[in-house]
Amino acid sequence: MKQITLTGIKPTGQPHIGNYLGMIKPALELVKDYQALYFIADYHALTTVKNQKELEELTYQATATWLALGLNPDKEIIYRQSDIPEVFELAWVLACFTAKGLLNRAHAYKTIVEDNISAGREEDKGINTGLYTYPVLMAADILLYGTHVVPVGLDQKQHLEITRDVAILFNKTYREVMVVPEAVIRKDVMTITGLDGRKMSKSYNNVIPIFAPSNQIRKQVMRIVTDSKRPEEPKNPDECNVFAIYRHFADEESADAKRQLYLDGGLAYGDMKKELFELLESTFSTQREEYNALMENRAELDKVLENGAEKARDFAIPIMAKVRKAIGITGVR
Ligand code: TRP
Repeated sequence: MKQITLTGIKPTGQPHIGNYLGMIKPALELVKDYQALYFIADYHALTTVKNQKELEELTYQATATWLALGLNPDKEIIYRQSDIPEVFELAWVLACFTAKGLLNRAHAYKTIVEDNISAGREEDKGINTGLYTYPVLMAADILLYGTHVVPVGLDQKQHLEITRDVAILFNKTYREVMVVPEAVIRKDVMTITGLDGRKMSKSYNNVIPIFAPSNQIRKQVMRIVTDSKRPEEPKNPDECNVFAIYRHFADEESADAKRQLYLDGGLAYGDMKKELFELLESTFSTQREEYNALMENRAELDKVLENGAEKARDFAIPIMAKVRKAIGITGVR
């Protein structure tokens, strides 16, 4: 049997090209060698999205994004996290193997604490327990299916380390029940820069959505921050936020030609932005049509997710049974 690749998308915003390059694209490349389980982490989104319509809509968007970008639901398994009850049972079990100190040191939580402290607020202000225990549910997401590899962006590295620690402790306490997973983090796309040069992230409001209408994408591309060098001046391509995005989508030859033009002088940022916009259009226009068609057909999306959940549970149920047995939980289920 093939080994398992698994990853999740948290539906908290429209998927953007940082998500695409950092996670979706590498994940889609793994499907030829692995059995893929790719899911929508809707219950993780609940830590921040507290609006019914929005959560529903974002979950469909994330699903349509995977499908439009090439995930084949007859081969790959795509499902909603919330459709797998076993994952929440496993999360409790794992919580009992997760040192509280480990969660205190988790970046996402620590950053908010530090912001609170520097603003003179109480340190846990605005932090719900779901956000605090987020890494435990994530460990359950991964360990429940016997996952071998987890394609993720660099920001998830620590979560994978926590998952491994918890799996190793569980195995040491009982026996080798858990597969200890490996993170797959692509070095060439470690960090995708956003419009302002910081990491592309919804929380910085500096993203280019993959499937927004053309005029919105054009607007975002035009907003990319550059310096004020005139066209004839030589420029450093490695310090340019437009080039930083362009090079991920252009073929090598075009990227090299552009690099030379930056160095030689003769490149206007406005023209470069136009080229980037056109490149994004040609990269995603077919998939965007597919995405829009899927978003018009919620019944189809529901069907795909239901089928996926059924298949995912075939992996989850026996592993959860093994966990219960190993611990000494001998109830009727
Ligand atoms: N935390 C991930 C993110 O924010 C989403 C996620 C949830 C995930 N569960 C996962 C990713 C399990 C990989 C494996 O992007």
